[in-house]
Amino acid sequence: MVAIVGDERLEKASLEPAHHATPDHLRDMESNYRSLFEQSIDAIFIGAPDGTVIDVNQAWLDLFGYSRKDLPRINAIDFYANPADRENFLRRMAKTGFVKDEVRFRRKDGSVFDCQRTAVARKDESGTVVAYVSISRDITERKRMEEWLAEANRELRELAARIEAAREEERAEVAWELHDYVAQALSVLKVDVASCRSRLPEEAPASLARKMDGMTHLLDDTIGRLRRLYADLVPVMLEDLGLAATIEWQAEEFVRRSGVECEVRRVENLTLPRGRVALGMFRVLQQALDNVRRHSGATRVTVDFTREGGQAVLRVADNGRGFTKHEMRKSGTLGLVGIRERALSWGGRMTVNTSAGAGTVLKVTAPLEDEPEVRTEPESPDI
Ligand SMILES: Nc1ncnc2c1ncn2[C@@H]1O[C@H](COP(=O)(O)OP(=O)(O)O)[C@@H](O)[C@H]1O
Ligand SMILES: [Mg+2]
Repeated sequence: MVAIVGDERLEKASLEPAHHATPDHLRDMESNYRSLFEQSIDAIFIGAPDGTVIDVNQAWLDLFGYSRKDLPRINAIDFYANPADRENFLRRMAKTGFVKDEVRFRRKDGSVFDCQRTAVARKDESGTVVAYVSISRDITERKRMEEWLAEANRELRELAARIEAAREEERAEVAWELHDYVAQALSVLKVDVASCRSRLPEEAPASLARKMDGMTHLLDDTIGRLRRLYADLVPVMLEDLGLAATIEWQAEEFVRRSGVECEVRRVENLTLPRGRVALGMFRVLQQALDNVRRHSGATRVTVDFTREGGQAVLRVADNGRGFTKHEMRKSGTLGLVGIRERALSWGGRMTVNTSAGAGTVLKVTAPLEDEPEVRTEPESPDI
């Protein structure tokens, strides 16, 4: 029985319109709202449309540095670091009756701080605005952290670019040492061995001649390897023949080394704004093909270098096992991260489309010489 009485009461309470509430109910509700208002850690401000203060809570006084006795003398316009923001606030209120934004306020002592604010217009029965209720939260600390993070990111990015430039310089130095000294010396040795071989007396043992032939082979092989190493270190043909030809050559080298079929489908002769970008694109291709060879298990890879919407796009697609976000982010791997950073450094971007079992498509864009360079902010790769 008790339960039924309870249910009836509940039904009555929920069906009855609020204006039928008894004065006791109203007083209860009022005191609940009052304590919510007073105890809120967010600063609450209730102001008239002309900006005079109707009420504020303690958190508001603490945040803005005023005392209650200041309230009759102050106006909402005083709290804005930039008075135009108040105009803007009133305009938006008039339009929608609601504002949610980030705004910079000023304390009584003149110091400024950033707030996240939500505000609503209260209207009377005739629809006239009687007050604005605004709830603000200090986000200065969050803003500071955001700025600090952005700065740290910028610095890291610069550092990465400088490290990359230093690596290119080192590669060039090693390459010249290999070319100017080691390769030259081996070539001289090869000529000397050939000359000795041709002067071997008739009666010299056959094993000596075989040994010398072996030396010639070894020298040929080593010189060949050295040339390839040299070309990997500094792609000299990039300057002589351009990126398109270098891409074709790199693809052929890849087939020879990996045994994976590689089709260069479309390669346009596009001009990138600076030598650094062309070299960067070549390094991207090296890294991408290296990943295909080492991780994908693919039997086929296609390479395109084309113009798309005012940008140069390098696309490397394999039919391998694909990979997950988790694999890409595993620690100690910097290949893909390095590609992304390179792309960002010249105002391009990297995207990776892959899923387990479905192969991988890596795309890297770069601005073209005749297009203005834009710096894009980093985005997480589409993976
Ligand atoms: N084409 C690909 N096919 C399959 N897995 C790949 C491919 N490219 C990258 N991955 C996966 O993503 C990981 C990160 O690649 P990367 O950043 O180049 O580092 P690393 O090559 O040094 O491992 C690889 O270890 C591999 O698991
Ligand atoms: Mg790699």
